[in-house]
Amino acid sequence: MRTYLVTGGAGFIGSNYIHYMLKKYGNEIRIVNVDALTYAGNLENLREVEDLDNYTFIKADICDKEAIGKIFAENDIDRVVHFAAESHVDRSIKEPEVFVKTNVLGTAVMLNCAKAAWENADGSFKEGKKFLHVSTDEVYGSLENDGEYFYETTPYAPHSPYSASKASSDMLVRAYMDTYKFPANITNCSNNYGPYQFPEKLIPLIINNALQGKKLPVYGDGKNVRDWLYVEDHAKAIDMVQEKGRLFETYNIGGHNEKQNIEIVEIIIETLQEMLKEDDPRRALVSKDLITYVEDRKGHDRRYAIAPDKIKAEIGWEPETMFAEGIRKTIAWFFEHEEWMKNVTSGSYQEYYKKMYQI
Ligand code: NAD
Ligand code: TYD
Repeated sequence: MRTYLVTGGAGFIGSNYIHYMLKKYGNEIRIVNVDALTYAGNLENLREVEDLDNYTFIKADICDKEAIGKIFAENDIDRVVHFAAESHVDRSIKEPEVFVKTNVLGTAVMLNCAKAAWENADGSFKEGKKFLHVSTDEVYGSLENDGEYFYETTPYAPHSPYSASKASSDMLVRAYMDTYKFPANITNCSNNYGPYQFPEKLIPLIINNALQGKKLPVYGDGKNVRDWLYVEDHAKAIDMVQEKGRLFETYNIGGHNEKQNIEIVEIIIETLQEMLKEDDPRRALVSKDLITYVEDRKGHDRRYAIAPDKIKAEIGWEPETMFAEGIRKTIAWFFEHEEWMKNVTSGSYQEYYKKMYQI
């Protein structure tokens, strides 16, 4: 039985990945989920699997090398899938240091502990061990012109403290691969959306605000472009890279789905209007009049776009969920999980909204 150590598994993509893997492999695999449970980590995301014999949760900080070393010593880990990170650009602009600590130092601790556990006396690595570092397309910087794409060979040019910290963590993984032949892969993925996404990010924030008739904050002119991928497609890509990818390679993962932010907001409003029943009181609240242009994000990257050619050619992965379908699935999930949304947006989180948007 293969054992996976998943870091940040209580967050958005990590919890979707755990659900995906347990559904796909059942009892053939064991998952150890290590998460510090920051504001973004939520064990409610894993309620359906928490009692399974082949799933274990351990609350630990990836910067704590003793705790992480102990987890490797007590579990024969075969695969690491490293999601744990501070992930929100706006927070990184306000508080960069925690991004450096978690994303850079935390990744160094993960690499070092995995290396110590997996290295043979002659410096080679035990058979079958693999580390997958989950990263972002934001490390490549910003594209200005249509028709330009990020490739695996595109030079790194991060702008925000978030993307700079992720770029640094990628460089550390590359250094381990180059120096020690440490068995790893890096994936750089575009913007994800789907169930369990924390409502500080664009799509769940717009859905949640619209359903309450609250203003919908659009930064700047609303024309910044992101390439949106349904989260389950990302989970599948990560699994396929570990199964079929060449070690030491980087794979870009993208949705072939570039949209301006204002288009995303309008699609959400239209889809909500279609999906809400006539007698649902929320239907009258959802309206394009809620769109409110607010001050632009500092250093706001204009456009991200991934060319997922390499992963398609080498591994056979491509995005499966069209945006029209993915956004409906996401909205349906939020309809069914009102309690989840209430819990994550209660109390101090309301203060955060006020501080962030002054609305
Ligand atoms: P998230 O913020 O929803 O979840 C992050 C998780 O990491 C949380 O559960 C949090 O508690 C945990 N965590 C944070 N600091 C920790 C620490 N010091 N020790 C242990 N756990 C800690 O993030 P996400 O959106 O799920 O992103 C996961 C990963 O994927 C990140 O590495 C991110 O850079 C990358 N990524 C995200 C996107 C996206 O669109 N969300 C796109 C590409 C890549
Ligand atoms: P976000 O979901 O924070 O992801 P990222 O910054 O990592 O791409 O933001 C997606 C885009 O939406 C980005 O261009 C910023 C913009 N945005 C808004 O216009 N309003 C909002 O309230 C938020 C959270 C984001």
